[in-house]
Amino acid sequence: MPALPLSDSRPSPAIADLFRRVRQDSVSLGKPLSDADATVQSMPDASPAKWHLAHTTWFFETMVLAPNVSDYRPFDQSFNYLFNSYYETVGERHPRPKRGMITRPDLATIFAYREHVDAAVEALLEQGAGEEISTLVELGCHHEQQHQELLLTDILHLFAQNPLRPAYKDPQPLAVGASEADPVQYKSFEGGIVEIGHDGQGFAFDSEGPRHRTLIEPFRLADRLVTNGEWMEFMADGGYRDPLLWLSAGWATILTEGWDRPFYWEERDGEHFTMTLRGAQPVDPAAPVTHVSYFEADAFATWAGRRLPSEAEWEHVAASCPMAGNFADSGHLRPRPAQNAAGAGEIRQMFGDVWEWTRSPFAPYPRFKPVEGAVGEYNGKFMCGQFVLRGGSCATPGGHIRPTYRNFFPPDARWQFSGLRLAEDA
Ligand SMILES: [Fe+2]
Repeated sequence: MPALPLSDSRPSPAIADLFRRVRQDSVSLGKPLSDADATVQSMPDASPAKWHLAHTTWFFETMVLAPNVSDYRPFDQSFNYLFNSYYETVGERHPRPKRGMITRPDLATIFAYREHVDAAVEALLEQGAGEEISTLVELGCHHEQQHQELLLTDILHLFAQNPLRPAYKDPQPLAVGASEADPVQYKSFEGGIVEIGHDGQGFAFDSEGPRHRTLIEPFRLADRLVTNGEWMEFMADGGYRDPLLWLSAGWATILTEGWDRPFYWEERDGEHFTMTLRGAQPVDPAAPVTHVSYFEADAFATWAGRRLPSEAEWEHVAASCPMAGNFADSGHLRPRPAQNAAGAGEIRQMFGDVWEWTRSPFAPYPRFKPVEGAVGEYNGKFMCGQFVLRGGSCATPGGHIRPTYRNFFPPDARWQFSGLRLAEDA
């Protein structure tokens, strides 16, 4: 995560504004939740909303306040054990699969913890924090935005386990677009030696750099995301029953897990419904498919006679696309059909709607070095066994994404807003 080697520092008034806005956004996300909603952990990979709200606060307390404010008084000494996520250098921590056991402190106490830490960070920034502190606060804000998306995806998973399929927001049924998706078009791109990766101007996580040269062969890229309607064709054609379409590990996974449709899909009176942050809703055939794993995305691409793009191909194209899209700020909180996206005739939906699986493993770029110290544990130690996703989703905070942004998840992960766009060799 550390932006330390990659970021130009911003003046502390701008950082203070960013800090206040991001911290308030998290409070707003927690507002619709009861104490019970915010405490239950629905699976080991998901964390309770209360934990997200506390852990992001712990990050500022541990990384910013403790080393820089000599008379800082921790809100509660036990919170370092409860809300450390994976920082070995910061000490022992509560086991991740048991975060749902933290019924105390209650949600109200966590909001009080947030206010305590906010006041201390704002006081520090008002003193005119130097570059190092500003950079750490900026990092903490981007870290918190990552957890804002996780809070939404984890609440979705939790509510999907409830037979009532409660809505996080606006439970009214949404109309399904009668129209089918636009026919997909493939745009051609020349190959060659191109540069990808962050150039150090503005904030980036350490894994996005260094900027470097890489070789891509000529390729074509779909001008929109794969839709639910296309996924239904894949299902109807036996896509989940043909081992020849699947990676070996993927085939083993769907047999073990019994997967035969995207996560959250269920059939009601012969119709496909899917769990959303607005409760169970009919599947919109024209909207992008989401909540599919890398294994499923790869099998679909094989079925379609195409492939997933590499992250270099994706970034090469995205660098010249507008960074507008359907992000969390739009309030839709679910992916929308390409017809709703700007850029008719061009490559659409590169940003927002769903994270796009690429075929690239999450690995260090040439000359990558994690920064020293605890923040060096942010990304580098996860560069094994995961695949890169690009572009952000309908649950990503607006302004949090960049063409160089590298998200990553294991190939069997499905609870994020993960979808795909197809590519082919030219
Ligand atoms: Fe975190």
